Amino acid sequence: MIFSFFRKKKKPPREVIPQLHTDIHSHLIPGIDDGARDMEESILLLRMMKALGYQKVITTPHIMSDGYKNTPRLVREGLEALRRAAKEEEIDIEIDAAAEYYLDDGFYTQLKDPDILTIGEYLLIETSYISKPLEFDTMIFEIQAAGFKPMLAHPERYRYIKELEKEYAAMKEKGVFFQVNLNSFSAHYGKEAKRKAEFLSGAGMIDFLGSDIHRMKQAETLGEVLNDEILYGIFGNNTILNESL
Ligand SMILES: [Fe+2]
Repeated sequence: MIFSFFRKKKKPPREVIPQLHTDIHSHLIPGIDDGARDMEESILLLRMMKALGYQKVITTPHIMSDGYKNTPRLVREGLEALRRAAKEEEIDIEIDAAAEYYLDDGFYTQLKDPDILTIGEYLLIETSYISKPLEFDTMIFEIQAAGFKPMLAHPERYRYIKELEKEYAAMKEKGVFFQVNLNSFSAHYGKEAKRKAEFLSGAGMIDFLGSDIHRMKQAETLGEVLNDEILYGIFGNNTILNESL
C-alpha cells in the first residue's frame, strides 16, 4: 500500500473535461480586419468552431482609430452577410457580433456612440502590446461610468506587464474582467504569454476564455488545447463566465 502514495496521479477521463459552447472573441467577418480574408475562409473557420463543439460565436472585429476604422454599422452588415453564408452552407451555429476596441485617443469618441458594440454588458477592449496607455485607469473608469463592464482581451499577451501579481491584481481591483486566449496555453504566442496565462489560471483570475481566431492554423491549435487536460485546471481554478453570454 505504501507504494500507492508514489503512484502517478490518474489523468481525468475525457468526459469530465468541461466543454466550451460559447466563444466571445474572434475575427470571422471577412475583409474588415486582420481576420478572415474572404467568406470562404470565414466559412472554413465557422465549420471548425462547430466541429470543436461551439454552439455560439460572438465575433469581434478590431475597431481602432489608427488602424481598422470599423464602425458598428459596418460590423452589423458584415454579421448579416456571415449569417446568410452560414445558413446557405447549413452550418448550425449561432452567430453574433461585437467588437474589440483598441484603447487609443479615439476611444472616448467610440465610447460616446449610442450604437457601441458590447457583449451583453461587457465591452471588449485591448491595448498596445508594448506600452500601457497612459490613461488606462481613466478609460476603465469612463467605461464603467458609461454603464459597461470592461473585459480586457488577452491580458497575458501584454509585454508591459512585468510584476504579474501586483499589476494584474491592481487591474482586477478596478473591476477589469480578464479574457484569456485559449491558445496562450499552447505557447502559440510565445513562452511569456504562456507563463502569464498559467499564472492567471493558477491565481483564479480568468473570467472568460476566447479563441481569438483569425486563421485556420489558430483553429487547429485551439483544437489541441480544447483536448488537453489543461482545461481541467482552468475550469477547476476559475469561474468561467462564457456560458452566461
Ligand atoms: Fe482579437
